[in-house]
Amino acid sequence: MTPDEPETLVLHLRAARLKARELAVAEVVALLRDLDAQPANGGPLAETRGVAWVSLPAEHKATAAARLCRLGYSEAVDIVESPGDEHPERPVRLTRWRRRAVALRSVYSEPDPLLREDAPDRRTFLLQCGDGMVRPVVGYRGGGRVLEHRALPVVDARLLVNLVHAPNRGVLLDPYAGAGGVVLEAVRAGWSTVSLDSDPSLRFGLAAFGAQHLVADATALPLRPRSVDAVATEPPYHRSAKHDVSASIGEMARVLRPGGRASLLVAADQLEGLTEAGRAHGFQLDLATAVDRKGTAVACLVMTR
Ligand SMILES: C[S@@+](CC[C@H](N)C(=O)[O-])C[C@H]1O[C@@H](n2cnc3c(N)ncnc32)[C@H](O)[C@@H]1O
Repeated sequence: MTPDEPETLVLHLRAARLKARELAVAEVVALLRDLDAQPANGGPLAETRGVAWVSLPAEHKATAAARLCRLGYSEAVDIVESPGDEHPERPVRLTRWRRRAVALRSVYSEPDPLLREDAPDRRTFLLQCGDGMVRPVVGYRGGGRVLEHRALPVVDARLLVNLVHAPNRGVLLDPYAGAGGVVLEAVRAGWSTVSLDSDPSLRFGLAAFGAQHLVADATALPLRPRSVDAVATEPPYHRSAKHDVSASIGEMARVLRPGGRASLLVAADQLEGLTEAGRAHGFQLDLATAVDRKGTAVACLVMTR
């Protein structure tokens, strides 16, 4: 590549999120926002399923490569180089792009099986059981009632945390913390994490994941205005929760500092109402898109205060 040409990153999407290209790109762009990363329209391997591209100025190549870790929707990322530039210690794949030979050097790779250990069905969660005793439960996936479906897949939890990435981190709030998927990822990404859930039986498990935990209502957050730097969360999907989830958007706006971001994975039929609520509470809308995956129809919403 010539020195003034932007660098191209090639993202290889995870098998379970092969069609979620917009979100996979948004995740990497968010992680590299301060390095001027941008979605790119094309790149090598265009004929391959589940590939997407991000470009960034050449001077940020090394910083960007070092920063990519714990990705949700991409299982691997390559950087495009001239065939002579390869680093012998990194795997390289040769291909052609724009009528010339290029080398794809791997800068991130974390195949799905490596995520299995952190998956909700393998994790241990400290749960207060019906008899009042607190017990470690392996594979706890949430209660069965309509407002209680929990245990987000690791890839979605990572996506939500990465979409609100800030170079200096700070305090991240999950006001619908459930079985703690987002909380675990936020702690691991270096955030001081505040988790909140109205269900008191979750308080030991969430605190054990390293969060400061509050048993409270997301529609009346016991937090000072502008006291958190980011929100990442998955509110309840059920129709009966629509009103409360909308009301909690106003609370997120109140406690977020100006410039802070909120990422939400929501039921698809809540998206329009929540987008409106976000605008009404002074949020700028960054992204509102359906997530192409199996199961309940969901959408991802990202807003800036
Ligand atoms: C979809 S689950 C969150 C799942 C979580 N992301 C995970 O990975 O386990 C929604 C959670 O919101 C909680 N919840 C429901 N209404 C609430 C409210 N008004 N305030 C706070 N938490 C609430 C439920 O107890 C449930 O744990």
